[in-house]
Amino acid sequence: MEFGVKSGSPEKQRSACIVVGVFEPRRLSTVAEQLDTISEGYISNLLRRGDLEGKAGQMLLLHHVPNVLSERVLLVGCGKERELNERQYKQIVAKTIQTLNETGSMEAVSFLTELHVKGRDSYWKVRQAVEAASESVYSFLQLKTKKGEPRRPLRKMVFNLPTRKDLPLGERAIVHAQAISKGVTVAKDVSNMPPNICNPLYLNQQAAELVESYPSLSLDTVGEAQMEELGMHTYLAVGRGSENESIMSVIHHKGGNADDAPVVLVGKGLTFDSGGISIKPGEAMDEMKYDMCGAASVLGVMHTVAELNLPLNIIGIIAGCENMPDANAYRPGDILTTMSGQTVEVLNTDAEGRLVLCDALTYVERFDPDCVIDIATLTGACVIALGKHATAVLSQHNPLAHEIINASEQSADKAWRLPLWDEYQDQIESPFADMSNLGGRPAGTITAACFLSRFTRKYNWAHLDIAGTAWVSGANKGATGRPVPMLTQFLMNKANVSIDE
Ligand code: BES
Ligand code: MN
Ligand code: ZN
Repeated sequence: MEFGVKSGSPEKQRSACIVVGVFEPRRLSTVAEQLDTISEGYISNLLRRGDLEGKAGQMLLLHHVPNVLSERVLLVGCGKERELNERQYKQIVAKTIQTLNETGSMEAVSFLTELHVKGRDSYWKVRQAVEAASESVYSFLQLKTKKGEPRRPLRKMVFNLPTRKDLPLGERAIVHAQAISKGVTVAKDVSNMPPNICNPLYLNQQAAELVESYPSLSLDTVGEAQMEELGMHTYLAVGRGSENESIMSVIHHKGGNADDAPVVLVGKGLTFDSGGISIKPGEAMDEMKYDMCGAASVLGVMHTVAELNLPLNIIGIIAGCENMPDANAYRPGDILTTMSGQTVEVLNTDAEGRLVLCDALTYVERFDPDCVIDIATLTGACVIALGKHATAVLSQHNPLAHEIINASEQSADKAWRLPLWDEYQDQIESPFADMSNLGGRPAGTITAACFLSRFTRKYNWAHLDIAGTAWVSGANKGATGRPVPMLTQFLMNKANVSIDE
């Protein structure tokens, strides 16, 4: 979809559709009032007759409104004017795009960007609108033989801004949003791909394709033979029950000076997590194809940073692996030596993510990173703690945690910090090895992070548990592409990308 910004009055627009807000109860927005005046009360008449209350998300499509140059006017309910918040704004925009898509307008001019959203400027409103638009037209149809796409989809959306001096800001918002949306879409596509197609090699091939498209990017591939040489025994152990080779893909974005310390992102890439010998119950086991969503978000972010050509050095690690039961699989009771030299007693082969990540986190020491963030669908406990709305952030480095939380607020990609105190470390003690891979039921998300913390002492590190946020279940099952917006924002802030450059 194409996007643009302009600044003009609604009665002068000649478009397939213009989109204006109506508040509850039956109150016209300033823009709607302008249209009402030139149409000699056509709109206020309709409202008086009870056609639209103005509740958030209500839609009323009008054709040939008297004296209005545009073919259609879409009235959009925005709820009570003073209560309009970020969440409602995004929902309203998404619903608007869906309606436009289903009702034949191939282009539209939206005045919703002029709504007042507390604490948010035009840049934010345009950016969120573009992100919401691409969100609401996404579908994963690659494996359907009958695609069933809308007959006359929306092709172009123009956002109106209050004054001409807002236009450069709006244009930058569009550029940023499109790069982020691209990253989100990349992440969703690879996440939704079924596990018989999307295996560690597939992830590596996606990385290879990506680096072909941008000169700032390059790829290193670490296969099982090299992992053996490096002593990545826990990573290898997890993949041993699978026919698919474990592959770690290392994507480099060189946007900074040669000697700038890189930001490193490490994504859990379990293309299927059956649980292994500690096999999972059957219900919703298909969803464990999404156990690579951390890796998918890294792929998406690398896409976005290359597209924006951020002046930073960034390394994205895709820790590809498959956890299967097999005669050759690792078992509960096994004691393994990690790449760091520390030993781990395996108490449950379903706590595999930390075993893959710990070796990947040791591997990245070689880059002498500015900071390292790992992204993982690591614990079911995270879904119990925070539900599906917030990504969990765990870090022993307060400044890094704050930067991440700030980025999450700016990008409206929710995150919430959980503690990572030493008190919790006792839960992963083992009588036979340096630690066990199981912390018991209390605070499962925190003890998983405690495990990882033992492999990240050489740099500043934060852990993101996206078990609740990476995909949605039920009728609208699908990957969300989170936390690509938050991570990109974090990197944009680090690169000092200003919105009014
Ligand atoms: N990939 C799962 C975590 C998960 C489960 C994410 C359900 C989203 C939804 C992870 O590998 C796992 O199985 N974790 C175990 C850890 C436990 C054995 C300590 C869990 O959360 O049950
Ligand atoms: Mn598991
Ligand atoms: Zn897993």
